[in-house]
Amino acid sequence: MSKSYNIAVMGGDGTGPEVAVEGIKVLNAAAEKYGVKLNYTDYDFGGERYMKTGELLPDSAIEELKKQDSIYLGAIGHPDVKPGILEIGILLRLRFALDQYINLRPVKLYPNVETPLKDKGPEHIDFVVVRENSGGIYTAQGGVAKKGTPNEIATQLMVYTRFEVDRCLKYAYEYTRKRNRKKMLTLVHKCNVMTYCGDLWVRAHKEMGDTDYKDIKQDYAHVDATTMWFVKNPEYFDVIVTENMFGDIITDLGAMIQGGMGIAAGGNINPEGVSMFEPIGGSAPKYTGKNVINPLAAICSAAMMMETLGEDKMAKAMDTAVTDALSSGKIKSLSAGKMGMGTTEVGDFVAGMVK
Ligand code: IPM
Ligand code: MN
Repeated sequence: MSKSYNIAVMGGDGTGPEVAVEGIKVLNAAAEKYGVKLNYTDYDFGGERYMKTGELLPDSAIEELKKQDSIYLGAIGHPDVKPGILEIGILLRLRFALDQYINLRPVKLYPNVETPLKDKGPEHIDFVVVRENSGGIYTAQGGVAKKGTPNEIATQLMVYTRFEVDRCLKYAYEYTRKRNRKKMLTLVHKCNVMTYCGDLWVRAHKEMGDTDYKDIKQDYAHVDATTMWFVKNPEYFDVIVTENMFGDIITDLGAMIQGGMGIAAGGNINPEGVSMFEPIGGSAPKYTGKNVINPLAAICSAAMMMETLGEDKMAKAMDTAVTDALSSGKIKSLSAGKMGMGTTEVGDFVAGMVK
């Protein structure tokens, strides 16, 4: 019997809906080949709806989304809505409400893709960042006193429980084992300064590795040095695990060395629940409706979604289709408007390559 999955589609803002359509095109092509059935339900949460109704993400929607097998997101962010409202009210709200405690961000240079790193090719840039996605500075703990006075005091706390650290590390160790490359898990932190939070991660990383993952090499790098290594020798890395804000920052650099936001995919994962997949590039409002935005990141996110759902073969076929499409040399650049074809043509092209 063929497998069937219910997918919530949230196109969102700007170019989000356009890239999501192309991702679905490739999903459908692969689903047909592999005998998988995908049932889509559309949700219109985003800036437009917020401006019309004042509604961000009602509790009832969260309850509905919890019943889906996965969520496929285009982008959140609208130029006419004050920064922070949609990001916190929709994107972060979903991550927290669905306890998507992993943010998985592969940094992979595909063939024929230009990287700003001199003398580096696909054989040098292929690692994965496991970003903790539920805690740290993102928990909005802290406060302000004496606001508006010269003595204003603001605090924004980095908060981690052992539970949060352990569940993230467990996912990262398992992922490293499954990936089966260098079998090295690099913990990225700043333990020379962050002697409480950093120390917690360092001890937990070592204890778990010593006990349950003796086959995985334990490694550590400070976050500042990590940005240096990303540029100097990215080939060093296999899997990186890091806390939320450090992961946010280093994955933007990661996206740039793999050729830019047009190809950077991500997954907000709850290994025991409902996950959500998104290209990490944002809504790129100035390109909306012009058929120029690059849908490859959205297509790669869709492949990650199928892998997380356990459809490894289908995911691999989608990823290979992206590789083949790029290898053909017909996609001239990953930048919006410079691809040598339109958004929909790239989608058709990749869908046609699915074997
Ligand atoms: C990301 C984004 C978000 C984050 C913002 C939009 C809240 O930068 O997904 O990396 O900081 O996590
Ligand atoms: Mn970010």
